[in-house]
Amino acid sequence: MAKVHLTDGAVTQDVLVIGLAFKQAHPEKLVIESGVLTLDEKTLLSVLGDLGATGKADEIIKLPGTSTRLIAFTGLGVEKKKYPHEVLRRASGAASRDLAGNKSVAFSLPTDDIESIAAIAEGAVLGAYSFDEFRGSTKAAQREPISEITVHTNFATKTEAKAAAKRAVIVGQYTTLVRDLINMPPSHLTPTTFTQLISQAVTLAGGSAAGLKVSIWDEKQLKAQGFGGITGVGQGSANPPRLLHISYTPTKYKKKFAYVGKGITFDSGGLALKPAAGMEAMKSDMSGAAAVCAAVLAIATLKLPIAIDSWAPLAENMVSDTATRPSDIITIYGGKTVEVLNPDAEGRLVLADALSKAIEIGRKGKSTLDGIIDVATLTGAQVVALGTRTSAVMTNDENFSATFLAATQQSGEAFWPMPLPEELRASLDSPVADLANIGDRMGGMLVAGLFLKDFIPSDLPWLHLDIAGPAYNEGTAHGYTPVGGTGIAMRSLVTLAENLSK
Ligand code: BES
Ligand code: MN
Ligand code: ZN
Repeated sequence: MAKVHLTDGAVTQDVLVIGLAFKQAHPEKLVIESGVLTLDEKTLLSVLGDLGATGKADEIIKLPGTSTRLIAFTGLGVEKKKYPHEVLRRASGAASRDLAGNKSVAFSLPTDDIESIAAIAEGAVLGAYSFDEFRGSTKAAQREPISEITVHTNFATKTEAKAAAKRAVIVGQYTTLVRDLINMPPSHLTPTTFTQLISQAVTLAGGSAAGLKVSIWDEKQLKAQGFGGITGVGQGSANPPRLLHISYTPTKYKKKFAYVGKGITFDSGGLALKPAAGMEAMKSDMSGAAAVCAAVLAIATLKLPIAIDSWAPLAENMVSDTATRPSDIITIYGGKTVEVLNPDAEGRLVLADALSKAIEIGRKGKSTLDGIIDVATLTGAQVVALGTRTSAVMTNDENFSATFLAATQQSGEAFWPMPLPEELRASLDSPVADLANIGDRMGGMLVAGLFLKDFIPSDLPWLHLDIAGPAYNEGTAHGYTPVGGTGIAMRSLVTLAENLSK
């Protein structure tokens, strides 16, 4: 993990990163945004003009430096008095990605508040990512991510600035965990190895001394205790299913929330086999589980005074003579029966089990659950509706949703509210069971949300996050987002916990 430093002193790093904007009314007029540093702007602007620089987002222009080997200009877009934090986060992330192969990089961008420093540091850390674990002979040829990040700012000695730098490293570390788990091939990431990797991460985060506790259900316990969703989805695979629970209980806390993430380590579609083209992306079908597990560890590392229970129902959805057949009926934890009309609508089945268990544990005794959030790569319909970069939020509680959406504004993750229209619920009725696992194809994302809603008590604030598109970047890298696992939802879950523990 890259280190983050703050300074108000001289530039001594290998590379200097500076912002480059353009004037709204005259896009050909470039503006250098160098924060606390003063540069010879006239000369630089003339060279940048000759090179055809535009100052647009995701543009990186590198020149030989004077005090540094290189000076890199990162696009900020339209010139602003105050740049939105996400603009700074993306610009520093794009530079950080582009500068892989260099070691120490100085970032001098406008830092008019602590949040700007936080955003620059976070973007730089998030852009310094690579996944080379499975490279053999081509590993040596890979450029190493930058390892020393220095943010130039007048606030360098402020306590809040130092805390922001520290937080950026923690956020970077746990985003890396999410991305690594997503990128890891299903040959190596099975339900069992997922629990092992998370158990190791829990130990590294301080284990019981940090208020963390892990519980794991194996396939026998799942079957015996009535987890028909996880069991049914996992029964076609040689790699048996698991249920993973991480609880974080600080010594003092006022509120308690549960996070539940879909953990399908590979979704072949089961007997409703998916087409071969694009099936490889289904190694990312455990992105929700990775996000909720990493989020609770980040929250524990930040020592937030809020109790969080993270749950990951883990299974591999495969094809075999033991796989669930279309028309099979399963019993979800708690007793509701589901007719599995389509084994490819498996995420809602494992989530129904885990949500039911999370609610049972969360509401046991005198402890009360203040809210529950599930995170899932649930439907292709999500991608059709909102594209690959905007996730959906569905809810039974508008206040909870508004609180979450405010947190996403801070984290810079794009989420958009979607409805749960009551009239679509009837399409999930089954002639033989309590409900079916598929309904109307039109509005498929909402139908999936309505399926889950059936397992949530109406007095419990609940959010359903469908991250199907944004979890896995099959396009090109942009801003601080690499190709492959993106880590989406983790940062918003952490920011929400920060806001709720205030
Ligand atoms: N994991 C998929 C959803 C998905 C699709 C995630 C594309 C990421 C990218 C999910 O299990 C699935 O197969 N959903 C079906 C549901 C349908 C059978 C009702 C879908 O969306 O086609
Ligand atoms: Mn599926
Ligand atoms: Zn799936």
